[in-house]
Amino acid sequence: MKKNTLYLAIFIFIVFLFSCSEKKSLSTSDSNLDAKIEQKIDSVLALMTLKEKIGQMVQYNGSWDLTGPPSNVSNKEKLEKLKNGGVGSMLNVVSVAATRKAQKTVMENSRLKIPLIFGYDVIHGYKTIFPIPLGESASWDLELIKKSASVAAGEASAAGLHWTFAPMIDISRDARWGRIMEGSGEDTYLTTQIGVARIQGFQGDDLSNESTIAACAKHFAGYGFAEAGRDYNTVSVGEFELHNTILPPFKAAAKAGVATFMNSFNEIDGVPATGHKILQRDILKEAWNWNGFIVSDWGSIAEMISHGYAKDKMHASEIAVKAGSDMDMESYAYEANLEQLVEQGRIEVSLIDDAVRRILRVKFKLGLFDDPYRYCNEEREAKEIYSEENQAFAREVAKKSIVLLKNKTNLLPLKKNIKSIAVIGPLADDKDTPIGNWRAQGEANSAVSLLEGIKNTVSSNTKVIYQKGGDLTTNILKPGERQFLLPLTFNETDKSGIPAAVDAARNADIVVLAIGESAFQTGEGRSQTSIGFFGVQQELLEAVYKVNKNVVMVLMNGRPMDISWAAENVPSILECWHLGSQSGNAIADVLFGDYNPSGKLPISFPHNVGQEPLYYNQKNTGRPFNPVNVTYSGYTDAPKTALYPFGYGLSYTAFEYKNLQLSKSKFSKNGEIKASVEITNTGDRDGEEVVQLYIRDLVGSLTRPRRELKGFEKITLKSGEKKTVAFTIDAKTLQFYTANKKWEVEPGDFNVWVGGGSTASLKASFSVTE
Ligand code: NOJ
Repeated sequence: MKKNTLYLAIFIFIVFLFSCSEKKSLSTSDSNLDAKIEQKIDSVLALMTLKEKIGQMVQYNGSWDLTGPPSNVSNKEKLEKLKNGGVGSMLNVVSVAATRKAQKTVMENSRLKIPLIFGYDVIHGYKTIFPIPLGESASWDLELIKKSASVAAGEASAAGLHWTFAPMIDISRDARWGRIMEGSGEDTYLTTQIGVARIQGFQGDDLSNESTIAACAKHFAGYGFAEAGRDYNTVSVGEFELHNTILPPFKAAAKAGVATFMNSFNEIDGVPATGHKILQRDILKEAWNWNGFIVSDWGSIAEMISHGYAKDKMHASEIAVKAGSDMDMESYAYEANLEQLVEQGRIEVSLIDDAVRRILRVKFKLGLFDDPYRYCNEEREAKEIYSEENQAFAREVAKKSIVLLKNKTNLLPLKKNIKSIAVIGPLADDKDTPIGNWRAQGEANSAVSLLEGIKNTVSSNTKVIYQKGGDLTTNILKPGERQFLLPLTFNETDKSGIPAAVDAARNADIVVLAIGESAFQTGEGRSQTSIGFFGVQQELLEAVYKVNKNVVMVLMNGRPMDISWAAENVPSILECWHLGSQSGNAIADVLFGDYNPSGKLPISFPHNVGQEPLYYNQKNTGRPFNPVNVTYSGYTDAPKTALYPFGYGLSYTAFEYKNLQLSKSKFSKNGEIKASVEITNTGDRDGEEVVQLYIRDLVGSLTRPRRELKGFEKITLKSGEKKTVAFTIDAKTLQFYTANKKWEVEPGDFNVWVGGGSTASLKASFSVTE
């Protein structure tokens, strides 16, 4: 007892000695401050028993929310572990009251009083909900995305949280994969830029600021490449695809100073990511020299048993620690086995020290040792969460995330004094769907519905007729029940609402039809083999269109869908994703022309599900096209190209691209050239355009994609205005992971295209010499 008190006094003294006003982010390189933190970590480590060290590597679910399969560990057992210093982190503990209570348990009972770090899935907002990440990525607006992450961090930190499990920077090319909604789509370059913007938004430039939180780059790695789009499924990518397509966003995240990484459920080429030493230790921690910590995914350490890679939890713990997984989320494997593994000499204690050092480092940088309750501020919680200011910003982000897919007869924008408008569809007055999956503390039924948004906007003389037309799902939640883990049941049979919807359509000037996917149709475990309209929606669409051709289809969804019938027939289509709290107002802003749509697809829409995985930067193959016979790489029953490709999106105005000029047509691999282009707004409205640069490396030591996005800039042009946009092309733009297993530029010939989408045709060529 005496000894314990002495240790404690020494510990408090040391922390006091270094007790700092210094502000430090993981990305700054002030070695003096880093050294101080390292000294503090050394002093804490020196005081810790092996058991206490292992405790830091344990993360428990707090049961305030459930985002994975429940365990059978009782709350009482968890409480005891907290008291004994057996837990370093908790997830799904939300609110100042709850985090304070758990923190207090540790601070008042454990020997060393090492504060807990609280993590939560703040994926697209905490309570003010922004568009799902795939939707927000359609804005191609990095400043906007950064700010939305920073607003989310402000709300989360005001609720006592320190850490979000975001951004998800998995490249995903398969619409069947339900988690496609959580990333930035199919392209490596776009995902990299957006991932870094989100990290900067969450973390700011000072992690110890109480309005910022630690971010987490996930899932390391390959999770988005699940075979057949089936969640958690096997991933079989080769080394070059891994380096060129999957890893770059993670490398950029590490460079940007992301505080943590999460590994992933899947195996890659036979090795589960959680036990993947090459990925975690050799690449991330060694080659990229990254000093944060890696948390496992929910239960993924123990899941190595089901993978057939570990015989039991002890074996799984040994593999995971050796591979570099620092913290065990909900496998209950480390706490039960690490001590014995060290005692038996199966793992070196230095591996444990390394993991604990990384975890403590993040805790120090968050300022938790200065004040473990620094994020527990009831006043901030009451004032900053779901504020009017945040709602206004959510509307801004939502309207900029909308993509105009079709506007054939210029039906849009609508006049606010239109005589009558029929608002139809299962999602038209749905206040829940726009909140989307991974909604953190976003409340059920809290979004502004499309019907409400329209009513808020039209003139008092406009007659608004609403008809639901049918339900999409038949799920009725019990009070307090959350949808995250529950299966959905779709209404396939009840068509009784269709006749009234048809009547409403017949009697209106315009029909706005809201259909698509429910909030929980995408997200974790929500893979599908078909991507058309579920339930009676297609029938409703066709029935309505039959009596009134002036249909604006408002699509709400979390994945690319098969909308080929609508694309062929319906004159106007707006892609509205799951847009968050202000969905209805934002859609009305676009419908009635208060905002000119500027979004571009971050993911290709196929003609049908059989084309998946579909992406714009596929390889050419040896048989790219043959107009006269079938022996080429295509389909006999469908086009091989997308219905709406990556980068595509219309505006109420028109942009003309001209004069693509290169400053030189030849340069050495250490040099650079500029590609410039003139863009003119030739329509009669002001608008924004995303100017995109694509490059093809014609011959390589490895086959190269047909074209790849290598730059973009979002510009605003007044009606009639012309601007020149210039891109620099240098080694950084052209390098790839070559057959030499190095990032390098290979001299040779290149094509370059600039335009408003991935099918841009304005082209130039250049060559690179040694
Ligand atoms: C499992 C998901 O894959 C991961 O992304 C998430 O952060 C954790 N569950 C915690 O909810």
